[in-house]
Amino acid sequence: MSLFNKNRSLFLGARYIARLHQQKCSLSVLGIETSCDDTGVALVQSDGKVLGNITNSQQGIHLRYGGIIPPRAQDLHRLNIEDTYNKCIESAGVDPSSLDAIAVTTRPGLVLSLMIGLRFAKYLGRKYSKPIIPIHHMEAHALAVRMEQSVEFPYLCLLISGGHSQLVFIKKATEFYLLGESLDDAPGEAFDKISRRLRLNTMTKYANLNGGQAIETAAKEATSPDRFEFPLPLCRYKDCNFSFAGLKNNAIRAITATELKEKTRPDDVIIEYKDFCAGFLKATTRHITNRTQRALEFCLRKMFFDNNLKPTIVVSGGVANNDYIFDNICNLAKKYDGRVFRPSKQYCSDNGAMIAWNGLEKLMEDKSYALTNFDNLDVKGKCSLGFSLIDEVANEDIKCKWVKTL
Ligand code: KG4
Ligand code: ZN
Repeated sequence: MSLFNKNRSLFLGARYIARLHQQKCSLSVLGIETSCDDTGVALVQSDGKVLGNITNSQQGIHLRYGGIIPPRAQDLHRLNIEDTYNKCIESAGVDPSSLDAIAVTTRPGLVLSLMIGLRFAKYLGRKYSKPIIPIHHMEAHALAVRMEQSVEFPYLCLLISGGHSQLVFIKKATEFYLLGESLDDAPGEAFDKISRRLRLNTMTKYANLNGGQAIETAAKEATSPDRFEFPLPLCRYKDCNFSFAGLKNNAIRAITATELKEKTRPDDVIIEYKDFCAGFLKATTRHITNRTQRALEFCLRKMFFDNNLKPTIVVSGGVANNDYIFDNICNLAKKYDGRVFRPSKQYCSDNGAMIAWNGLEKLMEDKSYALTNFDNLDVKGKCSLGFSLIDEVANEDIKCKWVKTL
């Protein structure tokens, strides 16, 4: 167990927490998030207090265009960033010259969108002589829960969003081990595409919801939730990777077949759409829960958790808003005597506060994460998360007795 020398880790963990408490209330960081379609700016203190948090969502506009068009998203970030920042500073009632640093998402995400946030961060950094802390978007999702709740390291984190699905073991704010990731689509992307293919957005009830919310809302009203069944992806692979493209394609084929059977008009929605949504949500949830179960078994087998503590699972990212998925992860954890946390809903989806918080966690660990010389700092569209243990997971050949989906 060379990676995880336990005594040393306990000692480092205790020292880190002591330092964190020492520095409570003493730091404040501005967070800027523009990796996808939300312009987010927030001001957060090191005790987790959010002084200001403004999110300008482009969702309504992209819903009308049937998806995110990167140059359009960039234009909207450019249009909104200054106003979002002004509103944040005004609501926080803080003089920007008192900030300790500016944290900004630099990776991964839509390059055109990321560029706007970074450019604005550099402008503020120069204007107020503040250092910049570059932030990995998924790391920020993974740590957001600690801003509001006392969730201590280490924990297993299930990251499910519109661009990613990952299982990662987190030892400390800057030490991530990747156990599994999506081989193709992300779950949020699958929900968005299926919701659009079902034409849920043409119904008033769902018109202002994102794909995941629309499917969750419709599924709750299903009368025969087991009517539509989908095959379980990757069930022959004993790893923790995800795949949602097959599920999505199966679902699209099933919608087309149902439309033919029901003689649905081109602008109409299939009659059984609620049962369909329930079936699709159940299939994605079963896949997500199974992969999380194997990741949990791997962590337990490798003794990654402190023996005296219950194993902790954190669920985060936009799809973590889904109560059915969250309830299933809670049910899984219960079977292992574990505990599950997720950030409050406003911080599951993209926001500036989680970026500011990640900046604070880094700053509290090591001041050198804050760059005073940031001229050459750039964005990165793709960027892996942590140190990969994906092959190690597969090599363990872990067979699980699957916890049944609720
Ligand atoms: O993390 P996020 O805000 O942005 C990315 O970084 O991708 O996640 C957005 C995704 C969207 O695909 C949306 O459909 C999904 O989160 N989402 C949900 C729910 N709320 C948002 N998926 C399932 N159930 C929900 N309630
Ligand atoms: Zn996100």
